[in-house]
Amino acid sequence: MKKTFLLVASILILNGCHNNNETSIKNNKTTQIEQKVDSLLKLMTIEEKVGQMNQYNGFWDVTGPTPKEGNASKKYEHLRKGWVGSMLSVRGVKEVRAVQKIVVEESRLGIPLIIGFDVIHGYKTLSPIPLAEAASWDLEAIKKSAEVAANEASASGINWTFGPMVDISRDARWGRVMEGAGEDPYLGSRIAEARVTGFQGDDLSASNTIAATAKHFAGYGFSESGKEYNTVDIGTSTLHNIVLPPFKASVNANVRSIMNSFNELNGVPVTGSSYLQRDILKGKWGFDGFVISDWASIGEMISWGHAKDKRDAARIAVTAGSDMDMEAHVYIEELAELVKDGIIDESLLDDAVSRILKVKFELGLFDNPYKYCDEAHEKEMVGNPKHHEAVLDIAKKSIVLLKNENNLLPLKKEGQKITLIGALAADKNSPLGSWRIASDDHTAVSVLEGMQQYKGNTLTYKKGADVSVGQTAFVNEVIINTEDKSQFKDAIYAAKTADVVVMVLGEHGFQSGEGRSRTNLQLPGVQQELLEAVFKVNPNIVLVLNNGRPLAVSWADKHIPAIVEAWQLGTQTGNAVAQVLYGDYNPSGKLPMSFPRNVGQVPIYYNYKNTGRPTDKDNNVFWSHYIDVEKTPLYPFGHGLSYTTFEYNNLNLNGEIFKIGDTINVSVELKNTGDRKGKEVVQLYIRDLVGSITRPVRELKGFELVQLKSGETKTITFNLDNETLGFYDNNGDYIIEPGDFQVFIGGSSTDTLGAKFQLQ
Ligand code: BGC
Repeated sequence: MKKTFLLVASILILNGCHNNNETSIKNNKTTQIEQKVDSLLKLMTIEEKVGQMNQYNGFWDVTGPTPKEGNASKKYEHLRKGWVGSMLSVRGVKEVRAVQKIVVEESRLGIPLIIGFDVIHGYKTLSPIPLAEAASWDLEAIKKSAEVAANEASASGINWTFGPMVDISRDARWGRVMEGAGEDPYLGSRIAEARVTGFQGDDLSASNTIAATAKHFAGYGFSESGKEYNTVDIGTSTLHNIVLPPFKASVNANVRSIMNSFNELNGVPVTGSSYLQRDILKGKWGFDGFVISDWASIGEMISWGHAKDKRDAARIAVTAGSDMDMEAHVYIEELAELVKDGIIDESLLDDAVSRILKVKFELGLFDNPYKYCDEAHEKEMVGNPKHHEAVLDIAKKSIVLLKNENNLLPLKKEGQKITLIGALAADKNSPLGSWRIASDDHTAVSVLEGMQQYKGNTLTYKKGADVSVGQTAFVNEVIINTEDKSQFKDAIYAAKTADVVVMVLGEHGFQSGEGRSRTNLQLPGVQQELLEAVFKVNPNIVLVLNNGRPLAVSWADKHIPAIVEAWQLGTQTGNAVAQVLYGDYNPSGKLPMSFPRNVGQVPIYYNYKNTGRPTDKDNNVFWSHYIDVEKTPLYPFGHGLSYTTFEYNNLNLNGEIFKIGDTINVSVELKNTGDRKGKEVVQLYIRDLVGSITRPVRELKGFELVQLKSGETKTITFNLDNETLGFYDNNGDYIIEPGDFQVFIGGSSTDTLGAKFQLQ
């Protein structure tokens, strides 16, 4: 620590002046940091620069036995030499302090490590999976969830998260849709901003905020056929209009790092893409943070057939603007030689290292490398009961009521015989999802436990069937049961005499996430058979879905009167579900991804193009459709019901003809026509009828969460302007074209209340 303090002290003296006004303080701070970075850079050898660009995984116990084999043994040596700039997945203050101490006290310059971790939907206390949170459309709640995660993670020594994932995806087969915000670039961008600001706060140097990472740059959500790590081949229009906007929004929100990804994009692995990283990200968008590779993605360019060996991979990646190597060990092995042999210029290293050091300065790590290492604070913050309240709040908000015939929901609180069925109903592990490396297994409140809080009814629980999990990575509990129906009988018997049957069915938490693509979107295992068997004896069923992706539940939609989408809701799952089922919370979630009728419709999304043959004009077969199933989704993007009802009236515009640059006001009256208080996500969509590049049939351009008492009416106003009326051309330039537009407002992407206007 001594060395760092000396170094920092001398650099600080160089830049000691202050200004009063806020912007100039900020500018002054930035200049000071830049000067400190420059001064430090001048002291560094090539090896030390390369070291800053090298990140190692921690999963070993530094306070215990030293790893002896392979690269692990080199990690200590490299830490001491200052050849490691960052570590990931080092868990807990004790471990973080131990690795930090090595670099700070033993390396020549004592440059502190930045400690990264996958804080995806919480640290120890878990919020709903990100796709579920997106269903809340509640930006404040989403931001709060990221703040809670940052509070816990920072108290545990972490100063940098690999989140949010801002990949747009239209493919429910892809396992990682659970980690994103769904299919829409506008909603995805707003959520990206909320998450980035939630993690980073207003002051990155505060000890309860952490640097965020927008990942995976770019196109990963378009992996061909939904297969993990696959080829991505998309056109420029999709790239600029659908894939890139949430990254740009993250950059505008000052995200401090960007992670690239495993996929290639149109033939070039993105880790080696200068077009994406240099031209767009660091060039056009002026991103001044740093780029971290995804796990070993630099080395994987060899398997892709884009680099011939490690040396080639290092050259390509650094030239393309990948600043830090996560666990490929390619930079540490190759970069110094490449500079010495004159193959790459040292300025490439200087650029990457400056960016990394800058973020370390911003985090305040040079002022105090142990600022996140306070054991007492860790004990108090990690798993703090206050955080349980916050994650319960967002869990309730994430639930989507898909169907509710005859107002079967909410359940009556007294005198009812309720039979609860399904392995997932009693599962305390699955609701935590698959991305939860710092939480304790089996710590979620199960649906059974949540429902047991309501004591006025008689509740009987029967498992009925297991969930089939199949082969998954990193699973400490694998349930494979695709055939066993031995417990059906018991469940059917208990269902027969119940007033209401609640069935919790769907995917186990380990069936979505990285490396968990599926080709079948139905209920796994024998759950569908169980549902049908129970339905035969008692159709009064509330189906509660648990899943990390849209499922194809056409049979259920046709037969089951009430369906609740409850995803994987984290630590407080059971309480959230029970409060919604019993009506103590009126659901307001809306789908952030379209639900297909069957897997053959995938990719399916609301903002599709009209095609040349959108409808059946001549009663023949030659139009854009399927001959075996409707072309519409089962549940569209934006869909979600409430226990009350809403009516939309009087959509008004402040004119019919506008000039480019004008602000257009669009207002609508929303009335709560039901008998209880409720919240509605009012959604505004536009259609640009004619474009030099064809425009989607609908594009979300605004939304507002509105709470109304029974009978209450409110006028909601949106503004449409240059930011919302244009699109990206095939060069990636934003343009606005004159012409005719439609605007629609409603509670789903398929609502039809609309108006027209013209832009001149
Ligand atoms: C994932 C990243 C993650 C990284 C570090 C990779 O496999 O793709 O999203 O941040 O591992 O855990």
